Amino acid sequence: MTNTLQINADTWYRQAEQKASSYYSSLYAQVSDKRYIDSLTTDIKQWGKGRSRSQSWFSFLTRGGSRPDTLQYRKYIRWLSEHGKLDNYLERSVSYIYMRDLGKALDTPATQARIRHIVTDLKRKLNRSPEASEKDHPEFMSLSGVYRWAQKEGVETAIIWLIHKLKTVSAAIPDGMSAEHAVRKLIKIIVGVILHVMEEMDDAVLSAERSRRLDEAIRLGYSYGLTYPFIDDLLDSNVLKQEEKDRYSAMIRETLLHGAVPELREWTGSNFELMRFVHAELREAFEYMKKYQRPDTLETFCEQSYVFFHSQHLDRIKQLSNTSYSNEELYLPIILKSSSSRMIVRSVISAGTDEGFDQHTFYYGIYNQLADDFADLFDDLEEGAVTPYTYYLTYHRERKDLINPFEMYWAVISHLIHAVYRSDAKTRDVILDRAINGLKRCKLRLGADQYNELMGIFASGLSDFNLLIQQMVQKADDVDFLDKLLRDQMVHALRNDRREKEQFSETLRTVQQQINELLQIPTPVGSPPMKASLIDAANYSLDGSGKRLRPVLAWVMGVKEYGLSPSGIAPLLRSLEYMHTASLIFDDLPSQDNASTRRGRPTLHQVHNSATAELTGLYLIQKAFGEQASLESFEPKAVLALMRYSSQIAADMCAGQAMDLEARGKALTLEEMNTICYYKTGMAFEASLVMPAILAQVKEAEIEALKKFAYHAGIAFQIKDDLLDSTGDSELLGKPVRQDVDNNNSTFVTILGQEEAAKAMWEHYCMATEALKPLPRDTAFLQHLLDYMVSRDR
Ligand code: IPE
Ligand code: IPE
Ligand code: MG
Ligand code: MG
Ligand code: MG
Repeated sequence: MTNTLQINADTWYRQAEQKASSYYSSLYAQVSDKRYIDSLTTDIKQWGKGRSRSQSWFSFLTRGGSRPDTLQYRKYIRWLSEHGKLDNYLERSVSYIYMRDLGKALDTPATQARIRHIVTDLKRKLNRSPEASEKDHPEFMSLSGVYRWAQKEGVETAIIWLIHKLKTVSAAIPDGMSAEHAVRKLIKIIVGVILHVMEEMDDAVLSAERSRRLDEAIRLGYSYGLTYPFIDDLLDSNVLKQEEKDRYSAMIRETLLHGAVPELREWTGSNFELMRFVHAELREAFEYMKKYQRPDTLETFCEQSYVFFHSQHLDRIKQLSNTSYSNEELYLPIILKSSSSRMIVRSVISAGTDEGFDQHTFYYGIYNQLADDFADLFDDLEEGAVTPYTYYLTYHRERKDLINPFEMYWAVISHLIHAVYRSDAKTRDVILDRAINGLKRCKLRLGADQYNELMGIFASGLSDFNLLIQQMVQKADDVDFLDKLLRDQMVHALRNDRREKEQFSETLRTVQQQINELLQIPTPVGSPPMKASLIDAANYSLDGSGKRLRPVLAWVMGVKEYGLSPSGIAPLLRSLEYMHTASLIFDDLPSQDNASTRRGRPTLHQVHNSATAELTGLYLIQKAFGEQASLESFEPKAVLALMRYSSQIAADMCAGQAMDLEARGKALTLEEMNTICYYKTGMAFEASLVMPAILAQVKEAEIEALKKFAYHAGIAFQIKDDLLDSTGDSELLGKPVRQDVDNNNSTFVTILGQEEAAKAMWEHYCMATEALKPLPRDTAFLQHLLDYMVSRDR
């Protein structure tokens, strides 16, 4: 790093620090002479009055029905609505977001109008949302919900890109860091950036322009958000050794000072792969953000980022064992990191300067930070992290000069209400609601005993004022916030998803194994050698890296959902895989796709010849019907129905292949594409779901729902197959790539191009997900199989 650059960096930081220092001094004065207590006592009393007026008669009229847990999202919202609390709840939540995330003051007519508008809109949406199971997550917390939103806003491509990015990032997060946490933070930042961009647009913005800006917001949000897991959390964790951390930090400084990412030269040791990925991703992210900066904003962006990074750094290297940190050393980096992290968001989107925003955000940061640090107190203690709370808790007996962070917190609140937000009543109410909510949540989490013990340490010097606060914590009922609910929901959803995905993978793996053991065809003793060689050929094709998805589906539905015996349905599982393998043998023939490899080995006609391959295919189909006819533990009528259905499917699949070949070189409509895909691919998935249902004699309505799911899942699967043909890896796939173009095939990709094909795939993904809703079954496996189908790389 050259000297001038270092001087630059020092200047940036010193300037920021001066501002933080004067803010700190005014807070320090408040804490020292306890001036804030009088004004806050009046504030809290007024706040309390306003609440009891609006609450009492309502709660009197609508007794009964206790407040549901916020994890029961729909029930909770309905409860709020029935008790006349929904309006206030939404208004306080939206107001809070406007202050914290958008840096607005609540006392301007324009902001008030915006908030009212959003509250009305939210309320309409919440009241309209379908009455599904009570435990349901909010729509937008599922992939299909997000994609439906993307369609409405015209940002499908950005969302598809993001889904892919989140998946790769999540897979790259090493042990010792939390992938869930990384994804949650990224989503939070992206949502924050989207909110800013939405806020910058008025109704006059045309929809194409709106889509363009939202598309950028998603990519910019991801790019900025990536720094949280990949810089802050990575440096916080113990994944890197000290010298690696130093080297990595130096690279980050260099990037911000030069405005360009340096090369990652050799990186020895076990973290090489990780660092290569982190470096490549961050470089892409930085370049993307840089592209959106005007020359005059790039410097501000780098400066703010530098202040953010350096204040985090100063904060991070503190050690709880050090007894001599001054109050300034404890508080200045916190004032700086908490404000710069939010101020950057506007630089990231290259928004014009907004004095109000900068001002509000600068003062607001520490309020939030102190609230979070209080909530995380015990986790931080365990990790030995220095925060004002952990430090005070450790040293308050011997260091009488230390500021009590709890008092600092209330001084900040008072400063915000009166000095920053001009004693506006609405602002006062929202901030106090939030503060009391934080304490209530803490008390709930810790239990009354531990909470009181903590208050004994932090609030003992506050005497009467503390009594007042604790009274409010006890009495105040309506201080919940929507963003907290969403956060809880998201944590819950991500955790649940991870658990279900692990279960899914485990089931998939074990069932695949069991099926593999069923498939090999034995050679009957005394068979003539010529027949034995046909059986060998069949076994050759059955072997290899097949995914067994069709019999796996039948197993899960049959055994898990309908309670059929695993050995009873073994013949059905065989028949499905025999039929499918036969279709692959035919599909690979020179007269059809002319493929040289399949399931990681040479195709059958390559090993033998076309005649042998054709005969093996026919042989396997006959074996499949033979298996079906041996479903002896089921009602003969059901088995006959199954066979009738199966022969129809097999016939239709032949028609599907014929249509596929016939379509070569033709410009098909989307509808024709769907039909071909359904016939050649979707039908086999349908059969895998419907055949166990026939054996279990389930109701026709359920079979219809399964067919609908299979139709869309099957097409999504084939589109993914088409996409993999153009972008996949033949090693992984076990079959050649770029076959479709070579053969002049008409596929979703050759006709629509990759981008539109991916959109079509996600549309079918959503339709399939929606088709699962009316099924009176546990559909988690089907949902995860669907996720697997569209995200697989083989
Ligand atoms: C390939 O099916 C044929 C298509 C319908 C695209 P799979 O991808 O399920 O092939 P295997 O059974 O795993 O080899
Ligand atoms: C095959 O579609 C459909 C079948 C049921 C055989 P493809 O021709 O795209 O399948 P792959 O890519 O060869 O597996
Ligand atoms: Mg084909
Ligand atoms: Mg093929
Ligand atoms: Mg293909």
